[in-house]
Amino acid sequence: MTVNDARPMRWWDIPDVISIEESAFPATAWSPAQFWSELAQDDRTYLVAEISGQLVAYAGVMVRPPTADIQTIAVSADCRGRGIGRDLLDRLLRVAEGSGCSEVLLEVNAESAPAVTLYESAGFEVISRRSSYYGPGQDAFIMRRRRP
Ligand SMILES: CC(C)(COP(=O)(O)OP(=O)(O)OC[C@H]1O[C@@H](n2cnc3c(N)ncnc32)[C@H](O)[C@@H]1OP(=O)(O)O)[C@@H](O)C(=O)NCCC(=O)NCCS
Repeated sequence: MTVNDARPMRWWDIPDVISIEESAFPATAWSPAQFWSELAQDDRTYLVAEISGQLVAYAGVMVRPPTADIQTIAVSADCRGRGIGRDLLDRLLRVAEGSGCSEVLLEVNAESAPAVTLYESAGFEVISRRSSYYGPGQDAFIMRRRRP
C-alpha cells in the first residue's frame, strides 16, 4: 500500500473525516457543520491523505498573513507512525510561508505526546499554557513556529 499525494479536502470527504475525528478527539470532536464551515472560508486550506483510495488523514490551516494557525491534524489510528502526519504538516507550513506568513501558531492538548513531539520536531515552541482548556486537567499548549 502506498500513500497517495495529499489533495484538497472536499465536502464529500466529511463523513470519512468525521469518522477519524471522533476517534482521535472523542471529547472535543468537531461536527460535520464545523467542517462545512471551515471548507467554506477562503483563508482555509484543508488537505487529506489517502491509502489505496481510503481517506486516512487530514489537516487544515487558517492563513491570515503575517500569521497562520494550524486548525487540526489527525491520522487514523491504524496508519500512525508512517510519516503521514509530518507530511501533511510540512505541506501546510509551505502553504503558510508561501502566502507570506512569518509565524504559525497552534493549540494542542499538552498530554498528547505524539502531537507535541511532532510539532517540536517541526520547529514549534511552547509559548504559553492554558489550564483545563480541553476540560478538567486537560491543559492546552499554545505553540509557535517562526519562519526559519
Ligand atoms: C499527532 C499525529 C497527527 C501524528 O501523526 P503520525 O502520522 O502518526 O506522525 P508521523 O508518523 O508523521 O511522525 C512524525 C513525528 O511525530 C512524532 N511522533 C509521532 N508519533 C509519536 C509517538 N507515538 N510518540 C512520540 N512522538 C511521536 C515523532 O517526532 C515523529 O517523528 P519520527 O518518526 O522521526 O520520530 C497522530 O498521532 C494523531 O492523529 N493523533 C491524534 C490526533 C492529535 O492529537 N492531533 C494533534 C492535535 S491537533
